[in-house]
Amino acid sequence: MATCTTFERKLLSYVEISKENRRGHLKIMVLIHYHTQRCNPRLRVVRCWKKPFFATVFLTFLMSAGFLFNSDNRLLRADDHLDFDGFNNETGANSLIVPNIIHFIRFNLTEYSFVDYLCLRAAFLRQRPDFVYIHTDVPEPEKGGYRGKYWNMIKKDKKLMSSIRFLPIQLATEIFGQPLSKDWQVYHGSDLARIRTMMKYGGIYLDNDVLVLQNLDKYRRFEISMNWDEGDSLGSQVIIAHKNARFLNRWLDSYHDYRPNIWYYNAGDLPIRGILNFHPELLHRVKGEFGADSKKSLKHFTEEGYEGWRKNDAIHLLVNHLYSVKPEDFKPLVFDEEMIQTYKFPFGQMAREVLAALNETDSNYF
Ligand SMILES: *[C@@H]1O[C@H](CO)[C@@H](O)[C@H](O)[C@H]1NC(C)=O
Ligand SMILES: *[C@@H]1O[C@H](CO)[C@@H](O)[C@H](O)[C@H]1NC(C)=O
Ligand SMILES: *[C@@H]1O[C@H](CO)[C@@H](O)[C@H](O)[C@H]1NC(C)=O
Repeated sequence: MATCTTFERKLLSYVEISKENRRGHLKIMVLIHYHTQRCNPRLRVVRCWKKPFFATVFLTFLMSAGFLFNSDNRLLRADDHLDFDGFNNETGANSLIVPNIIHFIRFNLTEYSFVDYLCLRAAFLRQRPDFVYIHTDVPEPEKGGYRGKYWNMIKKDKKLMSSIRFLPIQLATEIFGQPLSKDWQVYHGSDLARIRTMMKYGGIYLDNDVLVLQNLDKYRRFEISMNWDEGDSLGSQVIIAHKNARFLNRWLDSYHDYRPNIWYYNAGDLPIRGILNFHPELLHRVKGEFGADSKKSLKHFTEEGYEGWRKNDAIHLLVNHLYSVKPEDFKPLVFDEEMIQTYKFPFGQMAREVLAALNETDSNYF
């Protein structure tokens, strides 16, 4: 797959998530694409032409496949009508039912920090998504709305750029008639936005400071996977879900009891007390692997030699909240690619591994 274009990967992923009985047809579509893109053309197309049946199907599809080239989204609608009644949260589905789309939500941000940059590129590198959807309230991000050094560095990654789609989003001001907290509007609004985004598209939602360590495909077989540590609240920094996941609807509905004065009530506490304690089967419960534990997150910036993070699939770095976790250990630091080379705490190692891997792929890109 190393030489595949975005479109090809999109098609292949469609094959993956489509139902059994449609697979035959879709393989043909992949062949068409190989043909049109002249990517291994002879080998594959010739093999196809030798079989009259396949040739006929091939031609039929060639004529009707035009629609596929027009719309990005249509490809990803394979399992639109999945109904999760009685779904098994332990064994999951046999195939990948969650689309391979990574979602980031960026309110009121025109620039990328080094950490944002690192997280975006690590997610793309390790997950190889078909698309990265950036939901943003900045107008015309591609025409000067987004700027700064790290955005310019992101723009150099042609593969990443070709998979990015900007989707306009507005910060909510109220929920079910209740105004959002003034001080925390961006945060509570972002909590709501991620639920609604998942209900609309499904995929892999990541906070801007979530560092992906491993490919997350194994979670794409579940209705919805989130981090819920023993005795802790729900971690909403990573959400891997199908858009029809039953929990999403109930979670949004629970905002009828919105508490503007409590930071994490609706995002993390109420969904457990009001929903998951009674219906744990609605969630594929991830204990630790998404790195939501704030005490552990702090170690990445304070405990030299700590290696606990290596068994994680992702980590919520919490860089913007380190102060609130343990004020006495807080030292304001601005991370960048220079200082990270000698940063002695675990986050330094994590970051250097991403940069080294990017360095390798970058030199293979062109
Ligand atoms: C957006 O950011 C600007 C500058 O950082 C700030 O002054 C403004 O209050 C922010 N808006 C919201 C809605 O948080
Ligand atoms: C699946 O749901 C059951 C309840 O039906 C729950 O006890 C269990 O912890 C859940 N497993 C996972 C992996 O989430
Ligand atoms: C990237 O690779 C170049 C040479 O290929 C090397 O000089 C440079 O130090 C590398 N940078 C990182 C961050 O590994």
